[in-house]
Amino acid sequence: MPSLAKRFETLPEYVLARIPQKKHELLKRGVDVIDLGAGDADLMPPEGALRRITDAVYIPPMNRYGFGLGLVQFRDAAAAWMQRRFNLRFDPLKEIVPLIGSKEGISHLALAYMEPGRVAIVPEPGYNSYIGGSLLAGGEVYKYALRPRTNFLVELDDIPKDVLRRAKVLYLNYPNNPTAAIAPRDYLERVVKRCRELDILLVYDNAYSELAFDGYVPPSIFEIEGAREVAIEFHSLSKTYNMTGWRCGWSVARPEISAALSKVKSFVDTGQFMAVQAAAVAAFECWDTFLPKSREIFRERRYAAVTAFRQAGLACESPKSTMYLWIPLPDGVPSATFADRLMEDEGVIVLPGSGFGAGGEGFFRISFITSPARITEAAQRAGRVLRRLTQTTPRMDRTPAGVGGAA
Ligand SMILES: Cc1ncc(COP(=O)(O)O)c(C=O)c1O
Repeated sequence: MPSLAKRFETLPEYVLARIPQKKHELLKRGVDVIDLGAGDADLMPPEGALRRITDAVYIPPMNRYGFGLGLVQFRDAAAAWMQRRFNLRFDPLKEIVPLIGSKEGISHLALAYMEPGRVAIVPEPGYNSYIGGSLLAGGEVYKYALRPRTNFLVELDDIPKDVLRRAKVLYLNYPNNPTAAIAPRDYLERVVKRCRELDILLVYDNAYSELAFDGYVPPSIFEIEGAREVAIEFHSLSKTYNMTGWRCGWSVARPEISAALSKVKSFVDTGQFMAVQAAAVAAFECWDTFLPKSREIFRERRYAAVTAFRQAGLACESPKSTMYLWIPLPDGVPSATFADRLMEDEGVIVLPGSGFGAGGEGFFRISFITSPARITEAAQRAGRVLRRLTQTTPRMDRTPAGVGGAA
């Protein structure tokens, strides 16, 4: 059998790769499964998007190749949204790149910037396509552990100088998956300044910009002075509009950076299904009516989750953004063991912190992707597993920093 490339062999196991199969097996055995794994809510996309795609599939040109250009109305709508939401102007044709989900763009971008000898600084725990894209491009990955000590922020000046010298890309994601941390503005200013000094491409993954609570409004990186010089920002319709399966997102950056990503994409895809882009335009149109209701649903789920997991003996704070709780485990309870036992013994799917890289050990992640009642039930089951694993009264005194706010 032909041997695999060394580059391929460096890829770690993808955290969610085995879970759908495992869930299928549990369901077949008749287990009452509660899935709090992927950030993939059980909610419907906006009605307007459903109607628009239904109409669009009957329009002949929509069924042809989109190529890199795609549906111009989608580019226009994304640029108009950037203006409305962040008061930032971008050229829809030169600075917006339509993506087949933001993951696609994030991972493909590395092919334009990474190569042997170049380093990507990747937060760990973190979204796995940062590592995946960089390794597949033959680059080197420097993992920066996100820990409570630094409020789950990447502090560039903690990184050895020889690594910084070779660094070409820095991936940042705030509001953060999986820690739910948010980045203060002065932090973002510091990072942009350092990236400019060090000539590092700042890849700012803003997939959770619209899922925020308690009055918190996540910024765009381009609100920070100087960011246009060095940054690219990724957006997604997945979480904002419950459109994960539709695979629709976009990037925004100065023309040179956008052109590099577009060129890579011109060799690996031939554009997205334009009916999806047409439906995405409808989703943009209902942003200000759909989002308040959606946020309220996630806020209720967050309240249920925080309350129930605390009652189960697992200390956690209420995150200001995202659809996740990043819950610390008592010392000596490995996150993979906890997640395995919870799935096998109680039918509850959560993600072990170690699945996001070694830097995530000591935590597990739950997603607000089902009803408050089911989340509460899952927390009770988690409490039982925790008691069995620790055989002592659970400790209540460990809380992650940087995820403040009342439930
Ligand atoms: C941090 C982060 N970035 C990007 C994505 C990718 O979103 P999509 O490819 O669905 O647009 C996700 C999905 O979970 C995510 O958590």
